[in-house]
Amino acid sequence: MKITFRLLLSLVIVVAIVTAILSYYQVNQEKSRMTVDLDRRAAILADSLKESVSSLEGVGLPEWLNRLVVKYERFEGVAVFGTDGKMITATPELKSLTPQPFPAAVKAILKDRPLGELIDIQGKDIYAYVLPLKTDGKITGAMALFTDATYIGVRLREIWKYNLLRFLIYTFLIVLITVVVVRWSITGPIAQIAQWMREARTGKGKGGQPAPFPRGDILASLVNEATNMAKSLAVARARADAEARRRFSTASLWTARRLKEQMSVELSGKKLFLASNREPYMHINEGHTVKCIVPAGGLVTALDPVMRICDGLWLAHGGGEADRETVDANDKVRVPPEKPEYTLKRVWLSKEEEKGYYYGFSNEGLWPLCHIAHNRPIFRLDDWINYQKVNEKFAENLLQEIAEEEAPLVLIQDYHLALLPLLVKEKRPDARVALFWHIPWPNPEAFAICPWQQEILMGMLGADLLGFHIQFHCNNFLDTVDRFLESKTDWEQFSVSRSGHTTLVKPFPISVSFENSTDREAAKRESLPLRQQLLKERGVQARYLGVGVDRIDYTKGIPERFRAVERFLEKYPEFIGRFTFVELGAPSRTHIKKYRDFMAEVEETADSINWRFQTREWNPILFLKAHHSHEEIYPFYKAADVCMVTSLHDGMNLVAKEFVSVRDDDDGVLILSQFTGASRELTDALIINPYDIEEMADALHRSLVMEPREKSERMGRMRTVIRENNIYRWAGDLIAALARLRPAEGVE
Ligand code: G6P
Repeated sequence: MKITFRLLLSLVIVVAIVTAILSYYQVNQEKSRMTVDLDRRAAILADSLKESVSSLEGVGLPEWLNRLVVKYERFEGVAVFGTDGKMITATPELKSLTPQPFPAAVKAILKDRPLGELIDIQGKDIYAYVLPLKTDGKITGAMALFTDATYIGVRLREIWKYNLLRFLIYTFLIVLITVVVVRWSITGPIAQIAQWMREARTGKGKGGQPAPFPRGDILASLVNEATNMAKSLAVARARADAEARRRFSTASLWTARRLKEQMSVELSGKKLFLASNREPYMHINEGHTVKCIVPAGGLVTALDPVMRICDGLWLAHGGGEADRETVDANDKVRVPPEKPEYTLKRVWLSKEEEKGYYYGFSNEGLWPLCHIAHNRPIFRLDDWINYQKVNEKFAENLLQEIAEEEAPLVLIQDYHLALLPLLVKEKRPDARVALFWHIPWPNPEAFAICPWQQEILMGMLGADLLGFHIQFHCNNFLDTVDRFLESKTDWEQFSVSRSGHTTLVKPFPISVSFENSTDREAAKRESLPLRQQLLKERGVQARYLGVGVDRIDYTKGIPERFRAVERFLEKYPEFIGRFTFVELGAPSRTHIKKYRDFMAEVEETADSINWRFQTREWNPILFLKAHHSHEEIYPFYKAADVCMVTSLHDGMNLVAKEFVSVRDDDDGVLILSQFTGASRELTDALIINPYDIEEMADALHRSLVMEPREKSERMGRMRTVIRENNIYRWAGDLIAALARLRPAEGVE
């Protein structure tokens, strides 16, 4: 109200000043116009009288002049003055009125020219026009014509009055318009926004939903900020809820057994169907024998323990050279080979399909698109066609497997199968489908470069439940859908509704199955000899051991990590000859040139650092380029002083969690990139920016000189986090969320 009043007051003052100035000019102009007019008329009359009057000197004014006074309206009379300005004669009305000597007459005589002047005679406005009288070129006196000029004052007062009225009307209109506009465009929307914010803050709106955000041009810039604020609030509330639920349910820890019990309730005897590109067990040829290996990567690491418990069917691409030899007539094999617990069904792809769908669209397109690691995505039409084809192939296989199941539960994994949820739901609306996205989701601007963005989003939104590792990726996804698809996003529930179908979008931070040894002392005793033995086997002697475990991928920050080791040795030379970093690197996606080039870069970086520092029995970096089984990796985790996870961008990163889960001696330090999902949970790691080599070198130093007590406290806290948030909890939460969804009504 104060603002409106101030606004009104300023407007009224401005209008008053402007009206006053304009009126003043108008009055002045009118006055001079009327005076000129009077002057002109008086001059004409004076000119015509001048001869007769000058010849009547001393005689008095003739009668006809007196009649003239009566005849002309407003004409008050004529007076004749001597050269001293004193009146000689005048028409009767003027004789007593005119002052003696008459100043205007004196002035006209002195200046020897006619002169007009407005004068006041007994409270009356009179215009006096004085003309000097001459005989033979000599001034003999002056004649003055007097005209009533009161009408000029009347006219000028009228102008003032009229402008005052105009000012009042303007003021009224301004007040009216200002009040309406202010209410309509400012105070009204602000009140609505306040109400909207109150609802967003308290979580109370009609039907539990805040009203749609009030729109308004003038407030357009507020809309974005307030929407973001509401999102953050909703995120914070969701986190608080999740935390409360977590607290409530950590009364009993999630274990394999608990998941099994939970699954028997949720699934009520039904099988679980899982689909991913990568298979959990791959058969390869080794010499003349067939060997079964577990491929590297977080997806398999996380899901194999779940499937072992749930006993279901895992549908995946059979990519191993010996895969066809090891399946039955239905392309199925029970796994794990040593103790079969679930069924793996293999999908066969032609070379062309694999090239387009896996190497091309998935790994040269979507992978760099979703990871902000400064690698340009490549989108080719052929790849996209194969991607669609292979998704359809997976759909056919899956539909065949679930044909006999009523309301089956389907868990689809990762970016290779983004179209599969919709393909399944179109044919089986009763199926409950979840898609879990194991990699980050970029912001809408980054995603916008994908030429088939809408098809991908629509495919994903076929799912009833869409999981990401962290809330941030969920928000990015919802923002992207908001931007590119005709749909309704609910930031309170974190869901998207489109064509009558709703997809819930939630974070489920994936994890590992937690190894829990009870004998901490024995574990402690093991680690030093183990370290020396591991290094000795590889011809190296060192007091300290660092470890990194990765697929060789440009998102993992491996050259940066090596450079940090180099800088560490430069800065802290006392560790030369005493610290070795072992990189267990599994070659990955090697048919892609970028990956081959990257492998060469990693090798060259390691070589050049080794060349610079190495001695006969010591190397700063051991780059073990091979596929390593879990059994081969675990001793390194156990023996290492420090594990380095330096991803440039990573959805979660399970190496960090595996390292922590293995360290039952409560020893060892984790250096962890701030750009991993894991860094949100493992806050007791030394969190670094992998682009900052200096910071990483210092973190490495800090990890090696850290007090045992601090190490043990940090590791202890991280182990509690992983123990409580293990893979069984992840699966339990995800499957429970899916199973509890209302049976779908179908996707159009
Ligand atoms: C990441 C992806 C997984 C993938 C794994 C290994 O973790 O999210 O889907 O399986 O990398 O990559 P690869 O291409 O060998 O399957």
